[in-house]
Amino acid sequence: MGRVTAPVFEHHREALGIGEAAPRLSWRTETDEPDWTQLAYQVRVIGGDGDVVADTGRVDSPDCVLVDWPGPALTSRQRATARVRVWGGSDGAATDWSPPATVEAGLLTRADWHARPVTPDREPPDGPLPVALLRRAFTVDGPVRSARLYTTSYGVHETEINGTRVGDDVLAPGWTSYHHRLRYRTHDVTGLLRRGENALGALLGEGWYTGRLGWDGGRRARYGPHRALLAQLEIRYADGRTHTVATDPDWHWTTGPLLRSELYDGEEYDARRERDGWSNPGHEDRDWQPVQELPFPAAELVAPTAPPVRRVRTVPVRAVHTTPSGRTVVDFGENVVGRLRIRVTGPAGHTVTLRHAEVLDGGELARRPLRDAAATDTYVLRGTGSLETYEPRFTCHGFRYAEIDGWPGEFDPACVAAVVIRTDLRRTGWFRCSDPLVDRLHGNVLASLHGNFLDLPTDCPQRDERLGWTGDIAVFAPTAAFLYDCTGMLGGWLRDLAAEQFARPDRSVPLVVPDILDPPMADGVHALWGDAAVLVPWALYRASGDIEVLRAQYPSMAAWLALGAARAETGGGVWRDPGQLGDWLDPAAPPDDPAAARTDADLVACAFLVHSADLVAEAAELLDEKDDAHRHRELAARLRTAFAAEFVTPAGRLSSDSQTAYTLALSFGLLTTADQRHTAARRLAHLVRRSGFRIATGFAGTPLICDALCSVGEHRLAHRMLAERHCPSWLYPVTMGATTIWERWDSLLPDGTVNPGQMTSFNHYALGSVADWLHRTVAGLAPAEPGWRRIRVVPRPGGTLTHAWAAHLTPYGRAESGWRLDGGTLTVDVRVPPGVRAEIALPGSDTTLERGAGRHEFTIPYDVPPRPVTEIGHPLVPREPCDCGTAAPMPPTPATTGRPPGEPQPHHAS
Ligand code: BGC
Repeated sequence: MGRVTAPVFEHHREALGIGEAAPRLSWRTETDEPDWTQLAYQVRVIGGDGDVVADTGRVDSPDCVLVDWPGPALTSRQRATARVRVWGGSDGAATDWSPPATVEAGLLTRADWHARPVTPDREPPDGPLPVALLRRAFTVDGPVRSARLYTTSYGVHETEINGTRVGDDVLAPGWTSYHHRLRYRTHDVTGLLRRGENALGALLGEGWYTGRLGWDGGRRARYGPHRALLAQLEIRYADGRTHTVATDPDWHWTTGPLLRSELYDGEEYDARRERDGWSNPGHEDRDWQPVQELPFPAAELVAPTAPPVRRVRTVPVRAVHTTPSGRTVVDFGENVVGRLRIRVTGPAGHTVTLRHAEVLDGGELARRPLRDAAATDTYVLRGTGSLETYEPRFTCHGFRYAEIDGWPGEFDPACVAAVVIRTDLRRTGWFRCSDPLVDRLHGNVLASLHGNFLDLPTDCPQRDERLGWTGDIAVFAPTAAFLYDCTGMLGGWLRDLAAEQFARPDRSVPLVVPDILDPPMADGVHALWGDAAVLVPWALYRASGDIEVLRAQYPSMAAWLALGAARAETGGGVWRDPGQLGDWLDPAAPPDDPAAARTDADLVACAFLVHSADLVAEAAELLDEKDDAHRHRELAARLRTAFAAEFVTPAGRLSSDSQTAYTLALSFGLLTTADQRHTAARRLAHLVRRSGFRIATGFAGTPLICDALCSVGEHRLAHRMLAERHCPSWLYPVTMGATTIWERWDSLLPDGTVNPGQMTSFNHYALGSVADWLHRTVAGLAPAEPGWRRIRVVPRPGGTLTHAWAAHLTPYGRAESGWRLDGGTLTVDVRVPPGVRAEIALPGSDTTLERGAGRHEFTIPYDVPPRPVTEIGHPLVPREPCDCGTAAPMPPTPATTGRPPGEPQPHHAS
């Protein structure tokens, strides 16, 4: 007998204030019964007043993921509770009803909004603005049954009722393409109201709306000249009356202790200017000024599709250094994103300054890579004599180190912690293996996902960018979708991508979404970056099985393909464009010219265009757009022919003799004959050996090279590349103490100094996309069909690894694949969730075994011992000169020191 989990609505982790009127339901059945499958289900929906509003009765179906909403469509604010039971297993018995899950619709139409945006600002900002405090008092005149607060803003906000913070979201409402889509959130504030006088208050900062955005100094007020708050508090009394308190001209505003709070530059807080009780009823607000009302937003007001950004953990100080110049620097031992929380006592007016950086250079904070982001917070003490606690509110930084300046009295590291923030997604993927350096690499991938999933998928979290660069997530999406349930978050971001794309006359996909770039960056049409319109929805569909993601994005996918095809058409089938970013950050590219790759950028553009054409054709097929599917397939065939004519010799050599060129040709099926494929495979293997197994790929080739090698039987070479520690390689940064994935293969040079390139981040996930291969091939766990109803387990031991394991929380439950080599025996351990079938292909066997739910262990003789590098079976050809200086030394593993060479030794560890 199984146990059914509480159903989930759409992809929501939290279902208060959702935007879907007919949310699909998913549930899992937990059972140990081998081979368990669901035979039937029953969904019952209870309305807000306790009546059954829908009951499917018994439905004979194995479906349990994204099952259609059985009831009448929800109207705005409507609540419903769903329960599920299922029949299944060998005896076909029914389970008990699942625990209930409650959903509540948000404000589904514009007419539901009575609030109007109100602003404290008269003039567009010409410098950073103080954070505004806004408030309004109101009366509650009876027992309250429920109360909801719907809020959004131009700028970032936090709300309070009667002195208590509402919710725990950080940097609300996050960053969407504000001109098109403005996200609001719903909070249950029933418990915060009291009979009699009440007050609703909000802090309003600049955030992405009016704050400085972009490099080279950036620009302020990209979205408009005024910050504004849009808030609607709806109170339902026990006697059925309703009362709405909304932002309107009756609100007042003033300023308080936050003298400025900017995403890049940080915050200035003067505690002497705190206004005690400012959001309490009865607060004296005679010196406050009236707000100004603005017109209702032209943008669509959208409910969230993902959880908000939250504080997810705190990290204590691991070590304290005194730098060569005598400054105090704390080290958190890992590169994180968030801000510091300090507890301090001292005299009134005393200033503590907190400066952040990801690495040290010459023992001092390396702040050059931050470019124009000051990343500095200052706190002026109130001086009450008691402990004062401070954490910045509307900023965040990417840092491992922080310089603490002006600490009153003796510095106590226990009084400082790093508060880590990110979108509060659910973890779904895990990986481990026998090589601690590879485990660390995987941990670094995870850490860079954490650092860059801050409401939207960003390139980096520290310098004057932090933008939704499309190319970065285009290559990282499959990895992300294994590790976290990000269909809701990335699905929402894709709506922004489409909105931006369709607002452009040529339907091109901006390089960054939300798009804030100025010409000429704003104008180009860039392969791989633009292909995000296809690659990201496809990755989400593969991970979730949600065809609606494809349906929603299909116009965007098709429009991008049409644009690429038109570009190719003018070049006789070949997309020729001098401005492409191409195989961005090929390690051979000089520090100041990251696009100067070994691989011809036109080849990269054309290869991705063919790949996109294939995927869009498949999407059209799935969506039953037969004519489109046919058209896209024909386009793909024409583009393949043109690619072959332009870039492939009859023998199978490519015009760019590079790892990336062969990788793309093999991965995307761009070689027409078996002979060509053979030649390309041999050439790729040769190039990999000739480079001494070091990486020679950038954004385009890196995610695919290991798969390309495995697809032509070169597993050992893929493993060998993975194991390489010299620069450039995946493990080189690990040997240098990295705790996140770096932007460049050599963001830190082998001598421990920071790469002189202007663009040098230590927290960029794109090159970590190899983790997708670790999951699928090294551990051997992959979906055999979108959504994981069938899984594919093909573990491939290799290199010097003696065990590897991956787990994924599929929509049906947890799937695992692990293997262990012991002497001449290989043990493979597979876990198949209920309702799922697995295709298992063991090494050395041509047969595919099929298994149902349960644990399955296989033990087979395996006489290929883990092999060190030199036994690879091919003569090692001399290495090309290293692309980034001298070969890396092998410092102690980061697990023991965690510090790059050249860094000061700690003199104090907390
Ligand atoms: C970003 C990259 C991005 C690239 C493209 C960089 O500044 O950090 O990750 O994709 O620009 O131009």
